[in-house]
Amino acid sequence: MSSIVRLDSLALKAEIDLQKNLFLLQILDQTQLPHREVWLTMTSLPQMIEAIQSLRVRGAPLIGVTAALFLAGQALSGESPASLQHITQQLYHARPTAVNLMNCLTAMRSQIDNDASAQTLVDTAITLFKDDVRLCRDIAEHGSQLISNGDHILTHCNTGGLATAGVGTALGILQRAHTEGKKIHVYIDETRPLLQGARLTAWELQKWGIDCTLITDSTAAQLMRQGKIHKAFVGSDRIARNGDFANKIGTYSVAVNCHHHRIPFYVAAPSTTVDRSCLSGDHIPIEQRIAAEVRGAKGYFGDVTWAPDSVAVYNPAFDVTPAELTTAWILETGIYRHKDIEQGVFS
Ligand code: MRU
Repeated sequence: MSSIVRLDSLALKAEIDLQKNLFLLQILDQTQLPHREVWLTMTSLPQMIEAIQSLRVRGAPLIGVTAALFLAGQALSGESPASLQHITQQLYHARPTAVNLMNCLTAMRSQIDNDASAQTLVDTAITLFKDDVRLCRDIAEHGSQLISNGDHILTHCNTGGLATAGVGTALGILQRAHTEGKKIHVYIDETRPLLQGARLTAWELQKWGIDCTLITDSTAAQLMRQGKIHKAFVGSDRIARNGDFANKIGTYSVAVNCHHHRIPFYVAAPSTTVDRSCLSGDHIPIEQRIAAEVRGAKGYFGDVTWAPDSVAVYNPAFDVTPAELTTAWILETGIYRHKDIEQGVFS
């Protein structure tokens, strides 16, 4: 029997040879999408951390799974338990908001604490990858029940195959509805400042052949007023016990606008995104990012600054949407409403 294991998703590839102690981990560099599809091989901790922090690999579930696989690769290459603990600690703090990163690394760390073999660490990371694929599939199955033929749907950021090991969360639901034959039209918020909607969601939806229109974030309210948006689906980086949740900056505005226009607003996430130790959204740590992302833009396309160099900038990567603005929470285990949250489904 072959000792080679291959993992393959839209933005992550791994090839693991347990007999030869070889581990190849590759990520699709999402900062270069949609115009360039460049795969990067992750070989060192600084490179892995840089890739997470600069959003070459991004999306709450995917950064968790990627960090776990990286750690497994380090174990297979012979790193000592002390060194693995150090690597875990560094990765744990790479980004603060997505609890999936901490959850995946905690699962790995408990194996290291138990002096587990490299093989066990590899198995644990592979399981985390495969679990995420399954969780996405189940979320999609539940969530697609909420979509009707002819729906016009707003989404924010990117929550698809580029953000998970599987088909995605909110976007996975839309893909599922599409494959079930429902005719839907998706409005994509461009998602300032790093444009995950414009660059990534637009790319994914076009790949699937789903009708879509890209809008600036500020256009959504006007479309709602015109009756052109029927539902909104978003993802999450951390859900608190009371149902408040963090997601890409701008999500709260979408929720407020939906509430005003009486439009259902759904959040989709795997249970690995629920933080049962977090009482409410007030306790979710919010990542602050550099001013240059708002003063201008920098990437494979060049470097431009449109604001005065010295202007003060406030650039939180995420915001918190209070539970009261959320119509339902879609997890792999089902669709939850306010009464379920009150009964402690996230406690
Ligand atoms: O900063 P990013 O691009 O990692 O932010 C991603 C999001 O906010 C997603 O909506 C969230 O991680 C859920 S992805 C299934």
